[in-house]
Amino acid sequence: MRTELRLLRLVAPYRGLLAIGLITTFLASIFDGFTLVILIPLLKHLFGTAGELRTGSTRLEGFVDRLIEPFIAGLTPNEVAGRLVVVLAVSLLLKNLMSYTSTQVSVRAQEGLVRDLRTRIFAHLLTLDFGYFQRTRAGQLLSGIITEVDQTKTVITASLLSLFRNVVAVAVTLVVLSQISIRLTLLMLAFVPLLLVLLQALLGRLRRHSRMRTHERGEVTALVSERIGAIRLIRSYGEEPREAARFAQQADRYRKQIIRTQRFSSLTSPVSEVFSGFLVILIIGAGTRPGLIGLSAPLAPEVIIVFLMAALKLTSPLKTISSFPAVMAVALASAERVFEMLDERSAEVDRPGEVEARFERDVVFEEVSFSYGAADDPVLSEVSFVVPKGRVVALVGPSGAGKTTLADLVPRFHDPTSGRILMDGVPLTRLTRRSLRSLLGVVSQDTVLLNDTVLANIAYGSPGATREQVAGAAQAANADGFISRLPEGYDTMLGERGTRLSGGQRQRIAIARALLRDPPILILDEATSALDTESERLVQQAMDRLVQERTVLVIAHRLATVRDADEIVVLDAGRVVQRGTHEELFRACGLYRRLYDMQFRDEETVVAAEL
Ligand SMILES: Nc1ncnc2c1ncn2[C@@H]1O[C@H](COP(=O)(O)OP(=O)(O)OP(=O)(O)O)[C@@H](O)[C@H]1O
Ligand SMILES: [Mg+2]
Repeated sequence: MRTELRLLRLVAPYRGLLAIGLITTFLASIFDGFTLVILIPLLKHLFGTAGELRTGSTRLEGFVDRLIEPFIAGLTPNEVAGRLVVVLAVSLLLKNLMSYTSTQVSVRAQEGLVRDLRTRIFAHLLTLDFGYFQRTRAGQLLSGIITEVDQTKTVITASLLSLFRNVVAVAVTLVVLSQISIRLTLLMLAFVPLLLVLLQALLGRLRRHSRMRTHERGEVTALVSERIGAIRLIRSYGEEPREAARFAQQADRYRKQIIRTQRFSSLTSPVSEVFSGFLVILIIGAGTRPGLIGLSAPLAPEVIIVFLMAALKLTSPLKTISSFPAVMAVALASAERVFEMLDERSAEVDRPGEVEARFERDVVFEEVSFSYGAADDPVLSEVSFVVPKGRVVALVGPSGAGKTTLADLVPRFHDPTSGRILMDGVPLTRLTRRSLRSLLGVVSQDTVLLNDTVLANIAYGSPGATREQVAGAAQAANADGFISRLPEGYDTMLGERGTRLSGGQRQRIAIARALLRDPPILILDEATSALDTESERLVQQAMDRLVQERTVLVIAHRLATVRDADEIVVLDAGRVVQRGTHEELFRACGLYRRLYDMQFRDEETVVAAEL
């Protein structure tokens, strides 16, 4: 579908507001024209030339005279002037009231569109495939949802309202002008293309430069946010001076770009002003020397004044109208980027025929293969094993063997490239994601904490949980000890802007989170980071409580976890190389034994060092 059509559909809910905007804009222009024409009799009375009232030399004068006649009949010239001033003031007031209303209304419409688009993009982003987030830089997503959406709204301001407003303004002004003197108007119009050409050239450059300015500003922002995030790295490698210099360079590029942009933007107003001055001379010259353009008589001073005022009112709308295609092009380009994001295929749509997940017996992996990208580079190859209800199955294997990838297949973060995973005999692809995930508790390898309180972090995903239940889960996860020592206990802020927790503490928060949900199936991806013996013991205790009477798939790095497992599946380069209990595999002298010996030696060294 064409971008314009799609935009129109988005704007549809605001058509009421837009209609009000158009009407008030139109009325504002009419009142504006009226204030202009009412000036003619007013000036006449002020200049004391009112005696010639009936001999109005232009069509407009005749019209205005007839218009105001009923109001001023039988009044002295002074009273007439007074009354006309009042009329002028009221009309001016009404014009500005209308302009104000139309601005307010269009702001409402355009910000409504912006909010709708942002909300839709964000909700859509949440459903996209993980691959999308790996392909797309976070900075670009941010710019899309903030800047591009903001640009899109100029479609409303630029096209729907602003164009209309300025075209009406030009039309009304031209009517006034032509009613005063068609010849003078035509003479003036002959010079308008000159102004347009000059402005067009300027605005084109200005637009190019302001795009570059936006880019440079983005680079400054990106640099700050990236480097602040890497502050530890910068400090530990002593890179502060180099980073400061790099930033200084960027800040200077931004400065230069602003100056370049400013050069053109400050030129537009002198150009229009010089043009206006030229126009004033032309109009006065032609108006007072009738022979020049074949007028029958010189125009009266008040008529020339009004003509000048009207003519000068033309420059600004003409500027806007001439830059309209350019502004619109930028807005449409942004709208296209926004729609691109919205068109990104959703990975999380339920297909018809999907049923609610139920778990009574087992989860079976049948010849499961998976690859992230090209199919000839599989991360998992024909993996088969069974996780029966109430049992603990441990996955072990060297780093990069595909353990985390395998665990990600169960909540359907990805679907297998070939083979199947069955829950109670039903392929996972036939289950709705929501019902499947409600059966699962996932504790991932790197614990994600949100910028929120301890309480909210543990209760994430269990919105109905009471404070007591959260505390109970924290206790079971061996986390209540350190939580109660935090400055504000359960109300301490964690995450990006909050208190930093140690690796072991973070894991225990994650375990408490999973315990609170109390799911029938648990997927644990033990963190590989080494913990000291004390936190290792606390985390292990928490794990032991977590796995009781539950079905567990655990990616194990800790000996104790592995030993207690009902079955151990050993993965190497995406293939199952061994299966069995700890005793069986230990005796078999394969990969498991080598991994075990390696870790056991390390543990001995640690113990020896601590002694
Ligand atoms: N999102 C991804 N896109 C492409 N390749 C990936 C992605 N995630 C992991 N891989 C690759 O898949 C392989 C398996 O990774 P995985 O994270 O499953 O290993 P792992 O067994 O969990 O390792 P570790 O013990 O270090 O956590 C690795 O070679 C890795 O480079
Ligand atoms: Mg992993």
